[in-house]
Formats: sequence, C-alpha cells, structure tokens
Amino acid sequence: MPRGAWRLAYAAILVGSVVAPGSIAPTPVAADIPVQQNVAAPRDVPTSATVTIDPGSRAYTPANITIAQGGTLTVYNRDSARHSVTSDDKDANGAPLFSQIVNPGDPPTTIANISNLAPGTYNFHCAFHAMRGTLTISGSGGGVQPTPQSFDQPLVIPKVLNTATIKIPIKQAAVRVLPTGPLTTMWTYGGTYPGPTIRRPAGKDTKVTFVNKLPTKTNVSVHFHGDHHGWTKDGQPTRFLIAQGKSLTYDYPLRDGGKPERASFQWYHDHRMGVTTRNNWRGLQGMFIVTDGQASKLGLPGGRYDVPLMVSERSFDSNNQLVAVPPHSMNLKGPVAPPNDGTIGDHVLVNGRYAPYLNVATHKYRLRLLNTSPFTTYDFALSDGHPFVQIGTGNGLLPKSVVRQDILLGPAQRVDVIVDFRGEQGSNVVLQSIPRANPPKNGAGSPAVQIMQFRVTSSVSDSSQLPATLQAPPAMTIPKKLSAVWAVGVHTGSTGSAWTLDGKMFDPKRVVLKVPRGATQLWELRNPTNVTHYIHIHEEQWRTVLRDGNTPPKWERGLEDTWRLDPGERVRVVAKFTDYLGVFMIHCHMLDHEDDGLMAQFAVVNPKTGALPSGYRYDPSGGPAARARTANNSTATANFVAASSTAQPRATSVTGGLTDVNSWMCGPPTDVTDVPKRASAL
Ligand code: C2O
Ligand code: CU
Repeated sequence: MPRGAWRLAYAAILVGSVVAPGSIAPTPVAADIPVQQNVAAPRDVPTSATVTIDPGSRAYTPANITIAQGGTLTVYNRDSARHSVTSDDKDANGAPLFSQIVNPGDPPTTIANISNLAPGTYNFHCAFHAMRGTLTISGSGGGVQPTPQSFDQPLVIPKVLNTATIKIPIKQAAVRVLPTGPLTTMWTYGGTYPGPTIRRPAGKDTKVTFVNKLPTKTNVSVHFHGDHHGWTKDGQPTRFLIAQGKSLTYDYPLRDGGKPERASFQWYHDHRMGVTTRNNWRGLQGMFIVTDGQASKLGLPGGRYDVPLMVSERSFDSNNQLVAVPPHSMNLKGPVAPPNDGTIGDHVLVNGRYAPYLNVATHKYRLRLLNTSPFTTYDFALSDGHPFVQIGTGNGLLPKSVVRQDILLGPAQRVDVIVDFRGEQGSNVVLQSIPRANPPKNGAGSPAVQIMQFRVTSSVSDSSQLPATLQAPPAMTIPKKLSAVWAVGVHTGSTGSAWTLDGKMFDPKRVVLKVPRGATQLWELRNPTNVTHYIHIHEEQWRTVLRDGNTPPKWERGLEDTWRLDPGERVRVVAKFTDYLGVFMIHCHMLDHEDDGLMAQFAVVNPKTGALPSGYRYDPSGGPAARARTANNSTATANFVAASSTAQPRATSVTGGLTDVNSWMCGPPTDVTDVPKRASAL
C-alpha cells in the first residue's frame, strides 16, 4: 500500500475506534500499528499548541504534538535562521497540507490549514534544515485528509541531439509540467523543459550555437557543467554573454590532454551573474551525455534501458505559473539574506513533469539521476526496498560498483545507478526521497516525497551485465603540499550580507589563484559555516583524496566536480590542469548561495609568464594560496597528505594531526579568519 494510503487506513482505524469502540473485533493487530496510542477523547487534549525552534537547536520543541481536531498550531522561531513547518503529506493539488516559513524575529505565527485537518498523524519537516516532527490531530470528525500521491502523466525523455553542430534557440515557451490545467510559461532551451539532451561521442568536436530569443532584454550565458573546454566557452557569468537577439557558438572538443574524455553524464545550464537561480528556475537546464565504448564493452544496460532523470523542484501559483524566486545580490538584508537564502519548491519534477510514471520491463535499467533543484538535497530510495547499484558519478564510471540503499544527492550532483526490475512483473516501484538519516548538526536534510513511479508492465529477457569491476579512475600523482584552501564564509556589512569563498566579496574582475598549466594540484575545500554547501569546480574533473581526513566512501572514488560539504567538513581533491589557459570559477551550486556571492575565480596560466587575460586583476592576498601555506606549515598537514599513488589514495596515519583533523569537527577551524561572528551564532 502506498505510504499515504496506509496512513489513511490507520486514521480510519482510529476514527472507528473512537466512534464505536465496541465495533472493532479484538483481532490481533499488526505489531507496527500503535493502536490506542494516539487515541484520546478531544476533551483530554489541548485545542492549541506551540512548537518552538530554540536558538541554535535546529530542532522543534516539542517534536511530537497532539491537539484536538479544529485546534490551532503556532510556531515560534527563536533561532537566528530561517525555518519552516511543512507537512510531508500533500493536498489534492500536490502542495503540502500546511507549510509555514518563519523568519528570525517573526512573532509566534499560527500555521494555516491546521484546524481543517482530519484526525490522524501528520509528519512535518523544515524545508531548509534536517528537522522533523509529528502533529497528531485527535478527534472523530471528518476534515481534510492527505491526498495519496498519484502519478498521472507519463515520463518524457527529452529529445536527443547527436550531431557535430547543434543549434538551440533560447526561448520562452508554454510547456506541460503539471498534469492538468494551463501550460506553464518557462524559459527553455529549444522549446522544452528540460532542453534537448545532447549525446555525443567522446573525442568528437561538438559545436553548439545558442540563440537568445527570450522576450525580455536580458543577457544569458550557458555553462556545460562537468566538461573540459576553453574559458571563453565556459559560460562565464559576466563575459562572453549572449545578448537578446544574438547567438554564440560554444566549442566542446570533448577531449582532455589530446585524448577523448571519459564517458560522462553532465548537464548544461544558465550561469548569468546574479540571476542564475531565476534563469534555472525558469527552465534553462538540459542534459549532456558523453559516450565511449566502455559501457557496451562492459555489457551495461543501454538503449531504452538507459534513462536520464533530471529531478528539479518548482512552486506554482493557482494558474500553474511559476512563482517568482526571492531577490539575490551580494548586498542583501532581511529574511532571505545569506546565510538564510534558499529557493525551495513544493512540487518535484522529473524531466520537467510533476510526478510522472514510466512503464518498464523486467530488466535491469541504467538510471542517470541529476538534481537540478536550486537548494534542496534529496535522499533517493526505492519503495520496494531494493537497493541501487551505483556504477558511476556524473563524470564517469566508478572503479567498482557499490550497492546503496539510499543516495544523498545535492544540487548539480549526479549518480549513475542500476535498478533491477526483474521478477517484479505487475508491481509499481516508486522512486522517492526519504528523510536523511542521522543528519549532522546544522546539515542539510532531505524531504520525504514520492517522486516518480515505475510500472513494471512487460516481461522480457535480460542479457545485460552488471560487473563488479568497472573502470579505474585516471592515475594522478598526489602532491605532498596543498596549493589552495578554499573556505566558505559570510560577509556581513551595514548594508547587507553576502557569502564568500576566498574571504572577500566576489568580484568578477578578480582572480585569487594562479595555476600553472600542466600542474597537478591538491586543493582543500572547507566549510566552517553552519550550513551545508555543494562546492563545484569548473574545468577539470577531480579525484577525491580525503574526506574529513579519511579515505572517501566507495562512491566518491571516481571523478567528481561537485562535493557536499556539511558544516565543519573538509575535502581534499586532486586534478591535473590541462590544455586551456584562462579564468574559471569555483562556487557553491546551491544557486541562491552562488547568486549571493559564494563564488571565486582561479586562472590557469602559462607557467613562464603567469599572465592573466586582459580585464582581470590578480589579488591573492589572504586567499586560497595563503591559506594553503598556513596549512602546509603545520605538522598536521604533513601527516595528512597521502604519498603519491596511482591507486586509490589512502590517508596515512594521522598522529600529530589531531588539531587539524579533528578540532574543526566541533567548530570553525582556528586558522580561518574570515568566519564572521554571525555565522558561528547561527
Ligand atoms: Cu553547474 Cu558553475 O555550474
Ligand atoms: Cu552554498
């Protein structure tokens, strides 16, 4: 039974027992149904209650609340961060049964739609943090009940473009997103959302011309996320823009160091300064698959059994139109200023459709999952309890397949998984997000939501393979010393606040790090703030050397370009800078954070001249190289760096390294000076 239906049935049992206690036969009850526990005569329970979010608690107090039917629930946010009380269950329109955002400083606020609810137990969560609670409505009347999730429209696989030259108009279009009612006006690549999937063989020159036909006088910039190409074709936020009525051809050689790139699952999206959240929200997102012979050599499921799934959430008004995103800048005040910025949606779309279904066969499927939501993390799981077998990241195959019961995926992250529907003829399997288990303090949570349904409708034989050993990542020599340490911070001034990545406000003319072309560098990414971030590095594909001082988990042993950094985390990554000179970005891929300043620029330079392209200023002071020097000078770091190795890097034993490795797990590291008081007070 679907989760929602089970809950309804349970509510019915409760109601029945209150109305006519004697009418329920004393048959044995399944052990997991807590009969009577939540049943109380309305006179015994309060008609109102308050849930409080205490300063720094990142929790609801109390977390479990019971009120009488028709009563009210008030939320009081005493914390300095923005929170919400949002029901897991949905109404008939697919929106949460109740959802109240509470900003710091708000007075106690009555949550709408609570007094109409039918008796039952309602789980709720914060849309911004890993916080959960339950509301039990006690009573015997009717009232609004959750609508079980239905899957009313077929999944659409975006059109595939596979030629060497491709032309894609960027235009406004009315597209089908919600199953009924008016079409939704979006900004699109080629008239659809997502845009067409570009699928090209590695090593083959690909030229994509984007033509800006948007109805508004606005410049756009297209970034091919995860790929290696020239800097003028990288979708820079303030340069090489496409003005309204103009076009730009982006060259993607799909080669690295003269050799074909590895097969990968990438994507392309708008990257315009300050409006990246808006432009992506409006629909400027598409998938890009690079192929090589490896998958068919291994016998992996292909063709119709290889399905790319772009998961992205949006909110709609009563006319099915997108609601506007909050304002962004590096000078924001008020409830959506950093560190409280985050654009959330209440409908999760897959390939642009809300709650779709896909008819599948009794066969193994290769699912490529991509999260393009602006802010939200999902913890993907299957309703039949079967695991995913992860075979790759966005940037290619893993060395070995990894069995995973659930997969946490933040903005811009991708996984390549095998799901096996053999033996499931006739059943429906739901791809869902489950609440993140044991979230770290202040870390991102994930919603409980049913996302799409697989209907196993046909029976076929399956000759595809799922080898345990897949493809070793490229060998890299790990340098003994760090070349850069990037640390997230918040800059708060009298006129507003911004995120920072190199200790200063982002300036598109400033370069803070020079990397000699040809170098292999070890970088450290640090998150000393009380918010999870997803740091993305343009241009190269990286191997993860250490996560929090340890060998990274098995699924982080391929190539990566975007890492989750929960509060207090540090990740060390290594890459070789090949082919292209020029200026590239490193930034948080939570789009609000990016628009609100969480970006910085490095330049790949000629090792002899060190020259920057014109229009840029080199200002390394106090930046990533200086932090790296500080880190390299501590004994901790010397022990912390693995010796050069072509195998999966391992952390060497950390003896004198405890200060460096462990102390920051409980608070900001001492050698990061730009952690503002406000961030530590979150
Ligand atoms: Cu997908 Cu700089 O971004
Ligand atoms: Cu961020």
